Amino acid sequence: MKPEDIAIWTEKYRPKDFDEVKGQDEIVKRVEAFVKKKNMPHLLFAGPAGVGKTTLALVIAKKLFGEGWHNNFLELNASDERGIDVIRVKVKDFARTRAIGDVPFKIIYLDECDALTKDAQQALRRTMENYTQTCRFILSCNYSSKIIDPIQSRCSVFRFKPLPKEDINKIIDHIAKAEKLTTDTKAKEALYEISQGDCRRLENIMQSSAAIKNKISEDLIYSIASAAHPKEIGEVLQKCVKGDFSGAKNKLLDTMLNHGLAGLDVIKQIQQEIWHLEKVDNKKKLEMVKECGEAEFRMVEGSDEFIQLEALLSKFVLINS
Ligand SMILES: Nc1ncnc2c1ncn2[C@@H]1O[C@H](COP(=O)(O)OP(=O)(O)OP(=O)(O)O)[C@@H](O)[C@H]1O
Ligand SMILES: [Mg+2]
Repeated sequence: MKPEDIAIWTEKYRPKDFDEVKGQDEIVKRVEAFVKKKNMPHLLFAGPAGVGKTTLALVIAKKLFGEGWHNNFLELNASDERGIDVIRVKVKDFARTRAIGDVPFKIIYLDECDALTKDAQQALRRTMENYTQTCRFILSCNYSSKIIDPIQSRCSVFRFKPLPKEDINKIIDHIAKAEKLTTDTKAKEALYEISQGDCRRLENIMQSSAAIKNKISEDLIYSIASAAHPKEIGEVLQKCVKGDFSGAKNKLLDTMLNHGLAGLDVIKQIQQEIWHLEKVDNKKKLEMVKECGEAEFRMVEGSDEFIQLEALLSKFVLINS
């Protein structure tokens, strides 16, 4: 077996150049301009998982530093480095030597910055200041609102978005061609539904499904992703609308057991499917969505998921009675 046969696809298909990073055109354009000038401020990348934050940071480093980029790039994770003290020591060691090559700074990529407490972020801010001469920071987080203002104001902030459908489709086609897989419109639809614009999730599901069959089908994808087919959830909701509580309850239980779903997974799917209900007016849909929020909150807080789901279905019946 060749090394690329066993490679994990999220690495195998990680973009190596700016034009391969999909769906973040504005961000890529601005960042490319920094690289051209061989100068850049600290950056803050905010956005959901699997949309290209780490990828873009790596492209920046490769383009800026060329061959020896490894020596000038340090990747740290704020949540698994046991706090800010470890980060400070590592930054200090790394920043002590000059960058190799013609770019006057090194890059430190710090992932999951929103995992740092406010105090730790203050310490990080001071660290950033101390090493501005020799280092640029690229901070990454899911929610920029969790990053303290003094850090935000020291960075150019970039907000990454989930990849839109066209870009997800392009990536599916590209990988399918390279791996000699066949797909169809329904399978692609399902891949988009399940990935929700998260490219890592997309590629992982494609790889798992390719390990089973060369033909990627809708059913295979839902079974791999341990998600219910939207049709099944749709049926549960239809039963509620018609006032058939026990039918809805049995169908939901069936679906959950079949696919091995947890309460929190289904509740997300239920919430999405509410909008696809026909013959239910918008006001009722809003009430139903509101109830999903309540139930989800209680589940996150640890209450019994089956009781919450049953209560949710009964509320759906009442709302539509
Ligand atoms: N914009 C994109 N264009 C093309 N491929 C992408 C894009 N974003 C992500 N990918 C694919 O998904 C994989 C994971 O992406 P990446 O590591 O950049 O995610 P991230 O935004 O850093 O997520 P996290 O917040 O979980 O760290 C990449 O290796 C690449 O294969
Ligand atoms: Mg990342």
